Amino acid sequence: MTTPNVFLRGSFAPVSEEITAFDLPVTGQIPAELTGRYLRNGPNPLGLDEPAYRFGEGHWFLGPGMVHGVRLRDGRAEWYRNRWVRSQRLAESLGEKWPSGPVHDNMDFAANTHVIAHSGRTLATVEAGPLPYELSYELDTIGPCDFAGTLPGGYAAHTKPDRRTGELHAIAYYWAWDHVQHVVVDPAGQVSRTTDIPVSGGPMMHDFALTGRYMVLFDLPVTFSLDAAAAGLQLPYTWNPAHQARVGLLPRDGSAADLRWLEVDPCWIFHTMNAYDDDQGRVVVDVVRYDGAYDVSLLAGDGPLTLDRWIIDPAAGKVTTQRLDDRGQEFPRIDDRAISRPHRYGYSAIIGEVSRATISLKGEFADRAFANALLKHDLARGTVEEHPFEADATAGEAVFAPSTADSAEDDGYVLAFIHNPDRSAADLVILAAQDFTGEPVARVHLPARIPLGFHGSWVPDN
Ligand SMILES: [Fe+2]
Repeated sequence: MTTPNVFLRGSFAPVSEEITAFDLPVTGQIPAELTGRYLRNGPNPLGLDEPAYRFGEGHWFLGPGMVHGVRLRDGRAEWYRNRWVRSQRLAESLGEKWPSGPVHDNMDFAANTHVIAHSGRTLATVEAGPLPYELSYELDTIGPCDFAGTLPGGYAAHTKPDRRTGELHAIAYYWAWDHVQHVVVDPAGQVSRTTDIPVSGGPMMHDFALTGRYMVLFDLPVTFSLDAAAAGLQLPYTWNPAHQARVGLLPRDGSAADLRWLEVDPCWIFHTMNAYDDDQGRVVVDVVRYDGAYDVSLLAGDGPLTLDRWIIDPAAGKVTTQRLDDRGQEFPRIDDRAISRPHRYGYSAIIGEVSRATISLKGEFADRAFANALLKHDLARGTVEEHPFEADATAGEAVFAPSTADSAEDDGYVLAFIHNPDRSAADLVILAAQDFTGEPVARVHLPARIPLGFHGSWVPDN
């Protein structure tokens, strides 16, 4: 193949420098109550010649991670930093000594998918075998993290913190396992429990959901393919129509024997927004659903992708679904403090460049999927507010930052990196959640582009 990889061009193109910049210029006023760091991870190949990535052979999901961070305090943007995660290969490519540490099954990788904070650690995370990497406050790599030797295998990109217990839940999967693993990390940062859940066919489980009673697992027809691996596909998870799609409810403290699977129609789900238990013993989970076949190895499907609500009734043994929004959106988030409990509000992003690169949509869906906008969903009223950006002002995932630790669910700010075409660089855009369609309260002008990437967190200092 001689076509340059779409994920090396345009809004996806990697940056080549690590930057440290202080006292960033701001339009508007940064809310004085925001003290902490906004962090976001994403793939950033070392260069356009990176062998594993050039000329259509590489996969967007496989570029080494680069974490971008902005520190806010006293109404100022004190710094911006971007740092590659130093895996062994990456450190050696940069001529540096690798800050060595544990490695699961030779799967060392510069974690590129999410960046979170737990028990005082900043962690870059990735799924499918490798360990997370721990970063310093200033985003330098400390080393691989196996939670002080307590994690038996690899970890996961997506995690769910439970505010009540202080625990961090995850589902780890790995192609060489005949199971997936529920991993609970305690508030002190050690794995307190793992539960192996038998599965067949090596399903990819990118995300899951948490309620007060259950882990909600998605065993969908995207599975590890030896044929695809043999054919040289670098992320050999393909659509497998023979694999029964099902959703599982695992009691949080239960064993695999307690898990209840319910069959669903074939579909693909990268992300959940949130889940909770209702007062009738059912589980409500909001998801971004790709209708029909989706091939993760090729990042290709027909769509549409929609925001849907699944109501899982274990007593009746059935799953009913509702359409919440048919705009082609992704990266659903809520106020993290509401994880596992009923949420009224949700946020998501319409990112035209990502839609164009990952799904072929036709007709009316296309018009709505190829814009650039952040969305705020009021799921109690059934309304959606849209904050649009210009066609070439590519948006990123929106993250909610509460005004104070105890403020109401909607009382706070929505943060995202948005490309500013006038400056050919990114802005950290801060919207007031309760004035979502109004002018941003602040735009922090960053010194460089930020390539389209994946997930991040608002990490308050305390
Ligand atoms: Fe994700």
